[in-house]
Amino acid sequence: MPQKGLFISFEGGEGAGKSTQIRILAETLRSRGLEVVVTREPGGSPGAEAIRHVLLSGAAEAFGVRMEAMLFAAARNDHVEEVIRPALESGAVVLCDRFLDSSRVYQGTTGNLETDFIETLQRIAVDGTMPDLTLIFDIPAVDGLARARKRADDGATPDRFEKEELETHEKRREAYLDIALNEPRRCRIVDAKQQQERVTEDVLSMVEPLLERFDHLSDVAQ
Ligand SMILES: Nc1ncnc2c1ncn2[C@@H]1O[C@H](COP(=O)(O)OP(=O)(O)OP(=O)(O)O)[C@@H](O)[C@H]1O
Ligand SMILES: [Mg+2]
Repeated sequence: MPQKGLFISFEGGEGAGKSTQIRILAETLRSRGLEVVVTREPGGSPGAEAIRHVLLSGAAEAFGVRMEAMLFAAARNDHVEEVIRPALESGAVVLCDRFLDSSRVYQGTTGNLETDFIETLQRIAVDGTMPDLTLIFDIPAVDGLARARKRADDGATPDRFEKEELETHEKRREAYLDIALNEPRRCRIVDAKQQQERVTEDVLSMVEPLLERFDHLSDVAQ
């Protein structure tokens, strides 16, 4: 079935502002009458949320990075089949907080897993459903972590991936920038260090050109 909706993934390190901007964009798009599905990884479907708990608690860590990567892929596949693809087929805008690029960066680059292994897993996991647009939130690791820490002071406890070294976080930043270089048609880099309102403006300017496919909706409404 041809895809009627629009699939946007949000990527980048901890505290970059992905979740904040997803909330704002979802509101903006809904106010324009679009159907919006907000979802996240790991998780997003009942099966994947069960795996999320195992992954983020660190329970899978003892079994090695390959096992972790396969669990992420299993969760992603369930999420695609149960939530993302049906939403796209029904014509919704899907805003996904992290998707396959997080696996490439976290399990591939900084988990030291071979590229072939990670790419094979991703092919199986997404099964042909790729984002139309991926916004890569770029911020120096030290600034992103400061934001995430400030948020943690507000009550949230850091998860397994937030506790790692600054150097590791910088490697991830570089890995995300490489993905953007390699896939320029799909990826846009967002300067996430700017104040929130500026980031919101940039995000909307990157999304706007893709909203043309929904123009017929406003024609009907007129
Ligand atoms: N542009 C900004 N400037 C300053 N603070 C911001 C900005 N954007 C978000 N924040 C704040 O920084 C913190 C982290 O933002 P957010 O939770 O959106 O990041 P995230 O990318 O989703 O992080 P994670 O990957 O850990 O989920 C929040 O407390 C948020 O209010
Ligand atoms: Mg978040």
